[in-house]
Amino acid sequence: MQRTLVMVKPDGVQRGLVGEVISRLERKGLKLVAVKFMNLGKDRAEKLYSIHKERKFYGSLIKFVTGGPVCALAVEGANAITLVRNLMGATFGTEAAPGTIRGDFGASRSFNLVHGSDSPESASRELPILFDEKEFVDYRIVGASWVFDEEDK
Ligand code: RTP
Ligand code: MG
Repeated sequence: MQRTLVMVKPDGVQRGLVGEVISRLERKGLKLVAVKFMNLGKDRAEKLYSIHKERKFYGSLIKFVTGGPVCALAVEGANAITLVRNLMGATFGTEAAPGTIRGDFGASRSFNLVHGSDSPESASRELPILFDEKEFVDYRIVGASWVFDEEDK
């Protein structure tokens, strides 16, 4: 069982895709455990993307993700990180496959609608930037046994 961060970026919010993203996560079988609509702010944005600090797109990335509100989501499920990354598609909308969120709705390179943690280490580092531990809601999805096999981790 993994918990991971998903974030609908400002372009996704402005384009009315929050519901679409949540719907795709739900339909995949992932469990929503926290949802927060917020302005990321410069400090949180810089923490979230600190691994890209030396990249030439860092400045424009921070400007982009602080340019409007975002919707932060925490989801759980076996292999949640891979499931989310596959739902998102390749980084650039210009390259992402149809059927993915970025492939279906993205037409830009850097305006790519969603963020998702790319590894268990990233998820552990990123989730506390957006959520306090007490904000994760503990509950059981009735019927989860029809989504994940006992062998799924
Ligand atoms: P994310 O972290 O947002 O989930 O996206 P990702 O893993 O697919 O891509 P990553 O390499 O981590 O890049 C982070 C974000 O920076 C912007 N970017 N712009 N103009 C460029 O060449 C460029 N490269 C990256 C994108 O918004 C990307 O999602
Ligand atoms: Mg990334």
